[in-house]
Amino acid sequence: MEEFKIRLINTEEEYESVVLKAMAEEGWRPGLKDAECYRACDPTAAFVGELNGKPICCASMTKYGDRFAFGGCYIVSKEHRGKGYGVKIYNAAIASAESRSIGIFALLHMEETFQSCGFHSQFYGARFDFHLPTTMTCFAEISEKSPVEIKGIEQVNLEALFEYDTIVFGVERHAFLSKWLHVTGSHARVATNSEGSIVSYTVARPTFVKEEGYRIGPLFADCQSIAEKLLKAVFEELLQQEEPPSVVCIDTPTKRAIELAEKLQGKRSFDQVYMVMKDPPDACFDKWFYPLPFPTAPQSSARAVSTQLLNERMKEMSERIEAMDQITHNMDREFKSSRVLLSAIQSIDEVLNPSSRPSSAEVMSSRGSGGSRRGMPRRWGDTAPWRRGTKKSAERQPVRRLPQTEGTLLHSQCEE
Ligand SMILES: CC(C)(COP(=O)(O)OP(=O)(O)OC[C@H]1O[C@@H](n2cnc3c(N)ncnc32)[C@H](O)[C@@H]1OP(=O)(O)O)[C@@H](O)C(=O)NCCC(=O)NCCS
Repeated sequence: MEEFKIRLINTEEEYESVVLKAMAEEGWRPGLKDAECYRACDPTAAFVGELNGKPICCASMTKYGDRFAFGGCYIVSKEHRGKGYGVKIYNAAIASAESRSIGIFALLHMEETFQSCGFHSQFYGARFDFHLPTTMTCFAEISEKSPVEIKGIEQVNLEALFEYDTIVFGVERHAFLSKWLHVTGSHARVATNSEGSIVSYTVARPTFVKEEGYRIGPLFADCQSIAEKLLKAVFEELLQQEEPPSVVCIDTPTKRAIELAEKLQGKRSFDQVYMVMKDPPDACFDKWFYPLPFPTAPQSSARAVSTQLLNERMKEMSERIEAMDQITHNMDREFKSSRVLLSAIQSIDEVLNPSSRPSSAEVMSSRGSGGSRRGMPRRWGDTAPWRRGTKKSAERQPVRRLPQTEGTLLHSQCEE
């Protein structure tokens, strides 16, 4: 008779040979030392399902303190799928989270399945692969834009970095980060502003399967230009290695992270959705360009989603108004030069035809009435027609964004 048993994975070696191997086979490209890092965070996170003593499935539920847990690594070997083993190990992992809120990072085709068991979709993201030489050409003007300094982690106060991570990620995970930042072969870089405060950090780590290159994560940044500058610095370093990676992949959890990946000509390989059960942590999701695997997501409420959509609409409107202002500004310039030209033509006309010089009474009557003289264009007043009765752009009220509550994705001021 067949015997199916679920138990905790107890060693780093087993985590690697069961979980990381299964993830690599699925093409998920786990990091080389992920087992060590995740076990440092929660040694009771990973489960294996064994059929007659042989591992056939796995799942993980990494617990961060007593309020949050992140689920992932949900895989059943191909020959055993569709026989109920998946649901069994999934239930074991969910139960281990106890009363904690749970975040997952699901493939898009699994969205409905997870919705049916209580998860709510939050952000839609995607995985992007970067070919470094191509991406480097897209960074051309970036470094000029952002006046931050890029440092190695040995040059910054680790406590300050942990604090930044906790604020942005929403949950304290020092034990995990202490390993993550120092993984062999990885490149961890931090950006600081003119006051020396941390405004961004990222880590590029080698993948479990060497030929699959590197993975980036997290990429947290106060704004997009800083994220770009940091990425550029890390990509440059990777290229300088003796054997530069053929590909670097980034999972982009949010719309702005996708925008950045597309701008850098990343190749989209698959779509993902961030889902959450119960409440997410109080994170700064607007700074997430790439979280760590299996993050939670903001707010489970419909209100958060509507707020996000409204903010996006307002950002769009704001950009349109700026474009219209630019057009009006250009028209103003044209208007001014036309007036100079017109008055030059009139002066020439008056010199060539002194007899046609209008009497002061004629001038008075033509002014303000817009009347024309001897086929000359109508005289305009000092104010351009499109300016009459309108407020100057500087007086216009800016489009207000909704308050940055509920983890909505708001565009950051320093991108403007
Ligand atoms: C997803 C996966 C783990 C499911 O394992 P499985 O053993 O085949 O699933 P089961 O036999 O236990 O489940 C059977 C049914 O329950 C559904 N199901 C699977 N997991 C479920 C879950 N966590 N909750 C609710 N329903 C679930 C399946 O979709 C399936 O439904 P269907 O018969 O209507 O298609 C397996 O297909 C797999 O390893 N896929 C590749 C890796 C992957 O995509 N993982 C998910 C990443 S988000």
